[in-house]
Amino acid sequence: MTNNKNQNLLLRSEHVWKVFGDGNEKKTILKDMSMSVHEGEFVAILGPSGSGKSTFLRVLSGLIPPTEGHVYMHEKELQGINNEVSIVFQNFALYPWLTVRKNVALGLLHSTISEEEKEKRITDAIHAIGLKGFDDAFPREISGGMKQRVGFARALVVQPTILMMDEPFSALDVLTAENLRHELLTLWLEKKIPTKTIIMVTHNIDEAVSMADKVCILSSNPGEIRVELEGLPVETRMQKGSDHTELVDSIYQIMTNPKKNPQTILHDGNHIPITLEESPYQVLPQIGISKLKAYIKKLMLQGGKESIRELNTNISLDDLLPLIEMMDILGLGGVEENRLFLTELGDAYAHGNTEEEKQILKKQLIANVSLIQFIMQQLEDGKHTIHTSDVLKHLHAYFPHQDAIIQLKTALTMGIYAGLFSYNRQTGRISLIEN
Ligand SMILES: Nc1ncnc2c1ncn2[C@@H]1O[C@H](COP(=O)(O)OP(=O)(O)OP(=O)(O)O)[C@@H](O)[C@H]1O
Ligand SMILES: [Mg+2]
Repeated sequence: MTNNKNQNLLLRSEHVWKVFGDGNEKKTILKDMSMSVHEGEFVAILGPSGSGKSTFLRVLSGLIPPTEGHVYMHEKELQGINNEVSIVFQNFALYPWLTVRKNVALGLLHSTISEEEKEKRITDAIHAIGLKGFDDAFPREISGGMKQRVGFARALVVQPTILMMDEPFSALDVLTAENLRHELLTLWLEKKIPTKTIIMVTHNIDEAVSMADKVCILSSNPGEIRVELEGLPVETRMQKGSDHTELVDSIYQIMTNPKKNPQTILHDGNHIPITLEESPYQVLPQIGISKLKAYIKKLMLQGGKESIRELNTNISLDDLLPLIEMMDILGLGGVEENRLFLTELGDAYAHGNTEEEKQILKKQLIANVSLIQFIMQQLEDGKHTIHTSDVLKHLHAYFPHQDAIIQLKTALTMGIYAGLFSYNRQTGRISLIEN
C-alpha cells in the first residue's frame, strides 16, 4: 500500500462563511473556513455535533452556496452542484421500493454513458463493495451494513473524482463499521476505485485517525477550522499501535481544550495554529446543572481523576466537551495529560451537601461567569430587578439572536439554582435575592 497523495490541488474553499436565517434570527454556522484538498488525499473533517460539518460538506459539494467566500474545483469557481462529487450519507438514503441493483443504478441516472457501460459499471461496483449475490434484494431484506454498502456502491458507480461521506459508519454497529472502514480503505489505498480524493465528515476521533491523511478539526459555535493535522502513515493507520494512540490522545486534548492554542498542545511545529477572537462574554457551554452535578460526583467516586478516553466510553463527546468546559470555567476541574481532574474546590463541591454546593456555585459564578457578573451588576445598581428583554438587548450586540437566548437561559438557570436571583416567568423579571 502506498500513500496516494500528490501535489495537485483539487478542491479548495476560500474564506467560506455560512449564515442561516435573516434579520434577528441570523446564525453564523461556518466562519471563515479555508481548506485545500489535494489529489490522492483522504481528509477527515472532525468536529462535535452541531459544529457545522454537514453544512460544510454541502457547501464543498455545491449543494448549497456559501453566504460569503468561494469554493474552487480545479481552481475554477464552483457554480451550483459539483458533478464530480458523490456523497454517502449516514442514513443510507436508499429507496425501499427499489432493489439493491436499482438503487445502485440511481447513481448513473443522469449519466450519458451507454446502457451497456452502465450495466458493467453497476456490476463492477456491486462486486467491489461486497454486494455480489444481493442484486435483487430489497433494502428491508438486508442488514444495516449491507445497506451502507449499497450507499457506497451507488456513490462509487459514478466514478466520482471526489467521494464525500457524511458520518458513513456512525449508524452501524461497531464490528460492521470496522469491517466496512477497512474494506473501503483497502479499496482506496490499492487504487481499486478511480476516486481521486475522499472527504469524510465524522465526530469519531478514532475513525478519523484510522482512515485519514489529514484531520481537520472544527470548533463549534460557529464552526471554524481550528487546526489541521497530518494523519498517520498508511502502513500503521489501521493498526492500533502507539502512534495511533498518541494521535488520538492529542486530538482529545485539542477538542477538550477549546480555548487552548492547539500548537501548545502539540509539540510538533508542523501544524497550522488558529487564533481565536476575543469576546466580552464567554460562550457558556450547554450542560444542565443536574448533569454537571452527576458527572462531578461520578468523577469523585473514581478518585477525582479519570482519563478522558475512559470517560468517553460512558459519556458522549457531546456531553463531555461542555462538561469539561463548564468545570474549567467554574474552577471545579481541569484537564491534564488527557485526564479530567477535580480541583480542591471541585472535590469540596462533590462532597458537599446541597447548601454547601450552592455556596460554592454562587461564589464561582460571581467570580468567573461574565454574564452572571453583568446581571448582578445591573441588579445591584438599579432597583434590584431587571427585565430579561433588557439583558437580551445587551447580549444581541455580541451573540446572534438564538444564541443570546440560550446564553441567558443557561446563566439564569445556574444563578437561580445557586440562589443569586429569582426569575418570574409571568413578568419576565429577574430579582436579586438579598442575604
Ligand atoms: N438549513 C438550515 N437552516 C438553519 N439552520 C441550519 C440549517 N442547516 C443546519 N443548520 C444549523 O446549523 C448548525 C450546524 O448543523 P450541521 O448539521 O452542519 O452540524 P453537524 O456538525 O453536521 O452536526 P451533527 O454532528 O449533528 O451531524 C446546527 O445548529 C443546525 O441547526
Ligand atoms: Mg451532520
